[in-house]
Amino acid sequence: MTKLLCKEDYLNEIAQSRDRRMAWWREARFGMFIHYGLYSQIGRNEWAMVLENIPVKEYEHLADTFAPAPGAPREWAKLAKRAGMKYMVMTTRHHEGFSLWDSQANPYNSVNFGPRRDLVREFVDACREFDLRIGFYSSLMDWHHPDGWRCAFDSEARRRFNRYIEDLNTELLTNYGKIDILWFDVARPMETAEGWNSLAMNQRLRALQPDIIINDRSYLPEDFSTPEEHITPVDHDWEACMTFNGISWGYVDSTQSAPYAYNAQRILKMLNTCAKNGGNLLLNIGPTPDGGVPPEAVAPLSTVGDWLQANGRAAYGPMTKEAKMYGNGGSDITHAGQSVFLWYWLWPATGEMSVGGYMNAPKAVRLLQDGSPIEFTHDGHRITLKNLPKAPPDQTAGVTVVELVFDGDPGYVFASRYPQLHGGKAYETDGRIA
Ligand code: GLC
Repeated sequence: MTKLLCKEDYLNEIAQSRDRRMAWWREARFGMFIHYGLYSQIGRNEWAMVLENIPVKEYEHLADTFAPAPGAPREWAKLAKRAGMKYMVMTTRHHEGFSLWDSQANPYNSVNFGPRRDLVREFVDACREFDLRIGFYSSLMDWHHPDGWRCAFDSEARRRFNRYIEDLNTELLTNYGKIDILWFDVARPMETAEGWNSLAMNQRLRALQPDIIINDRSYLPEDFSTPEEHITPVDHDWEACMTFNGISWGYVDSTQSAPYAYNAQRILKMLNTCAKNGGNLLLNIGPTPDGGVPPEAVAPLSTVGDWLQANGRAAYGPMTKEAKMYGNGGSDITHAGQSVFLWYWLWPATGEMSVGGYMNAPKAVRLLQDGSPIEFTHDGHRITLKNLPKAPPDQTAGVTVVELVFDGDPGYVFASRYPQLHGGKAYETDGRIA
């Protein structure tokens, strides 16, 4: 029986173990979100059941026609690995209330209906085969369970529903070996941690998986924040979760959604923003009705994976958060240890380019992809790269990374609006001398 702590003691206790539990996650940087369920057959968004007001009895028939192809989760994991992703988070049960595992608490599941398979088991096996850390998405909101709405105003219904939700998550964290992430979603209709009994539930769930990390969507801050469809850094651990098309987490018709899908360059720009500001990117794919990888995701993710093979040092691993450090406008940076990585979205055809604000001269400048040295000068706070190839050296995505290696602090002064130096020092924008 887990001895339960008060909220303050609980939050203090998990804060003490956070660095140890999150070390892999902070270095992983990049993960794949999977949204797959009965809604995938509808192909009009994972919220179709409520947005189109489909009655429960009508919606339930989707359970009979749900037919994921054999090996579907393995294809997801294979692509995630190919893309340079280090972990996956899969919807074990979305708001529709259908469990993708052999649940005793919820008979409305993929072993009793449709494929009569435990897809969570297949997902876990696939993640382990491809050496990917494992995350379970677990919706709190439930549109199928009769107490899923009554719990908001009927205390007995709430007690039953709290028990149900905890039983579901207990099954998930008991029956599938080591699980790395518990990703709660949409704590509705109750609107407090007390309503969800989160303090007791999360402590008991953590006792099942002592190394697990939990997101912030059960009305407790837990381990990391989850900005959704926007990349907004905060002063603690955070992970931006993004759809592939800005339209839907669940599958939508590929032909019509492809024009909205990210290309490799947009994915790399998101990855740069996350890495530069010390956060993670959880990029979603919504598998097709039979569990296939949506075709519009394959090429961009494969290109990103190839790019990360050659340039991963600029993206993975511990980073110095640098919201106020920049490249040259056509580039942006990440900062890791004594290296500042310039990610060039636009490569100059002039054979030369400068970047301002760096008071200290680098001891070396090189192409990250192959280590080839780059000639440079340093004058005041201006680094100028010389005799550059006319075409972008990176032929994978056209995003070339130049590594500036310093002996210590780059001495970055937010690039002065006034290029003139004052006795060798840059003006700050408020007239102060840096
Ligand atoms: C929102 C959506 C939900 C999706 C989640 C992913 O909460 O309601 O469908 O699973 O975002 O973060």
